Amino acid sequence: MTKVKIGIVGSRFQADCIAASVKAMPDEAEVVAVASPTPGNAEAFARRHGIPRFHTDYRELLRDPAIELVSITAPNRLHAQITIDAARAGKHVVCEKPLCITLEEADAMIDACRTAGVLLLYAEELFFAPKYVKAKQMADEGAFGRVHLVKQGEKHSGPHSDWFWDVEQSGGGALMDLGCHGIAFCWWFLGKQKVKSVYAHLSTQTHGARTQGDDEAITIIEFEDGAIGVVENSWNRPGGMDDSIEVFGDKGQTYADLLMGNALPTYSEVGFGYAVEKASTTKGWTYPVYEEHWNYGFPQEMRHFARCVRGEETPISDGETGRVVQEVLYAAYASAGLGRKVTLPFRPQGIAKPIDLWKRPELAQRGES
Ligand SMILES: NC(=O)c1ccc[n+]([C@@H]2O[C@H](COP(=O)([O-])OP(=O)(O)OC[C@H]3O[C@@H](n4cnc5c(N)ncnc54)[C@H](O)[C@@H]3O)[C@@H](O)[C@H]2O)c1
Repeated sequence: MTKVKIGIVGSRFQADCIAASVKAMPDEAEVVAVASPTPGNAEAFARRHGIPRFHTDYRELLRDPAIELVSITAPNRLHAQITIDAARAGKHVVCEKPLCITLEEADAMIDACRTAGVLLLYAEELFFAPKYVKAKQMADEGAFGRVHLVKQGEKHSGPHSDWFWDVEQSGGGALMDLGCHGIAFCWWFLGKQKVKSVYAHLSTQTHGARTQGDDEAITIIEFEDGAIGVVENSWNRPGGMDDSIEVFGDKGQTYADLLMGNALPTYSEVGFGYAVEKASTTKGWTYPVYEEHWNYGFPQEMRHFARCVRGEETPISDGETGRVVQEVLYAAYASAGLGRKVTLPFRPQGIAKPIDLWKRPELAQRGES
């Protein structure tokens, strides 16, 4: 297949990951442009990754006729507008998680892409993480009998950029930032069933001076067939990123630790360059991970999306996936506000951001049908 030409919007953490992941699968795609508003950043990014064109305004990138697919790695509050602009420019879209801030935005993004005849691909890399894919293959084969409980946890010491801590820009805290992965994971693992109800307990344990957002979140999701998903998230865990799953059925179980479980238990008195995302030190005992992007599934995800653009594969993660996650996020924040289980469908209108449903439970009451 001819290489899919990609333009990246954003030039920092996730943009680096996408650029490196595309380079890891050079037959299917190439990054040809990057856009980022801070003067000098897009240019530096382009030089670092060998990308020919760079812009400060993403709308210039959208006018580039060569670009077929736009990867959005900008803050959450910009996802909807950039997606809609990209669709109108005739570009396929890969949108980073979470899909957007509100359910109305999710609808508008899906509509804009459908109207323009372009794909809206939702970047949930856990659907491609080799260890988690293996766990799902075994479950689908029947290795664990009927799976009744799936747990996914993602925890670290807190985000790297200020905007994550500002709920006006992020839409919420650890649940919004990390829980979107676990919600998507449980839903995918259990066969994309309907969600029946959601119960969540949220709190701000250590970062109250910095954010209005939750920094500890436990979410329990009840699916149509009675199976349960449990999602645990934290911005209070030092020692590097923790991403793991547990799967239980009546005939067996499996456990997978994506990073520490694929690392080299290492002791160094002097330290070394890099161990794992969000680890603050490499001295003493650490767990340096190798092939970090591959272990997460990012190159595999981008290869799949490139093949979808060429019509060779059907998206396994799209705008509808992101909307399912968004509705569960709404229900989880509402549940924490109301102090009880929330049943789906749950579509309160006119909510400015998911976290408002926790802070102002009266808003949550108008969502249940
Ligand atoms: N899939 C994952 O595991 C994963 C990991 C990290 C981040 N993300 C998601 O990726 C997105 C970006 O996160 P990040 O960690 O890279 O944040 P970041 O702060 O490191 O980078 C954000 C980038 O967006 C750019 N930006 C800001 N305003 C812009 C605008 N108007 N137009 C174009 N670019 C603009 C910034 O200049 C910066 O380059 C978020 O939605 C985040 O949730 C996903």
